[in-house]
Amino acid sequence: MLFSTGYQTSLGTISTLVTKGEYVISDKENHACIVNGCVLAKGGFAEFVRFKHNDMDDLDKVLSGLPTKAAKLIVSDGVFSVTGELVNLPKMNEVAKKYGARILIDDAHGIGVVGNGGRGTVSNFDLESEVDLVMGTFSKTFASLGGFVAGKERVINYLKHLSPAIIFSASPTPASCAATLKALDILEEHPELVNNLIKNADKMRKGFAELGFKIIPNKTAIVPVIVGDVDKAFVFWRKLFDNGIFVNTFIPPGVPPNMSMMRTSYMATHEDSHLNKILEVFSKVGKELGLIS
Ligand SMILES: Cc1ncc(COP(=O)(O)O)c(C=O)c1O
Repeated sequence: MLFSTGYQTSLGTISTLVTKGEYVISDKENHACIVNGCVLAKGGFAEFVRFKHNDMDDLDKVLSGLPTKAAKLIVSDGVFSVTGELVNLPKMNEVAKKYGARILIDDAHGIGVVGNGGRGTVSNFDLESEVDLVMGTFSKTFASLGGFVAGKERVINYLKHLSPAIIFSASPTPASCAATLKALDILEEHPELVNNLIKNADKMRKGFAELGFKIIPNKTAIVPVIVGDVDKAFVFWRKLFDNGIFVNTFIPPGVPPNMSMMRTSYMATHEDSHLNKILEVFSKVGKELGLIS
């Protein structure tokens, strides 16, 4: 089922499915749209609890304290949007089954990036038959606008009839849907694009590390380069921009104190010449700011 954005998908799905006397259990580093979906559910008298980031022992501990009979929905990013880490889905699934909880994965950064032909995090772990709901956005890999949630027909029908975020808001435009369908065709016809993407991100992880930058290792398209200090992060960003490189900078409260970063991310169509230029500019600016020697 489609919503107008990924953000709205999260709000409309979580707050409709989890209501009074039921529990939504969220990773502490989930994307803001999940947090706000949970807050909206709480406004509808659901219980909102959190577990330590990607820590399935903590998830187990949290679930063990909840009433056995209450309905429970665990929600997590598939690929965490700041660090690019993959959720520990096999362990999450084990814990969920132990307590009869359902799972919703927000795969905004996993679709088109990981899994068989870019089918996402759930495919990456071969757990399609285990995970209840997957949501995502058209605004990343598909270069369009819109959001989706996929799951059992019964659940989707329920959402269709009860979610205010779909009933009282305009549908995605035909142009956005057509662009997304075309992007899906391209992905199906050119599965090598997914390999290129990961090859590019791997090159950059290796390149930044060799230059002496602190990175967060992962296997996705997001390659965070840690700068630390907020002021330095802004100066770094500006100097990159002035040298022709656009990057997203993340600062607190989006990241912990002293973890400000250049959150770089890559496309399958970046060429070696682009990537080498990025490494060259990062090296120059990093030296100027004393981040590397
Ligand atoms: C993990 C995650 N979920 C959802 C969204 C929201 O998607 P949209 O931009 O379509 O609202 C984003 C980013 O934009 C995201 O990073």
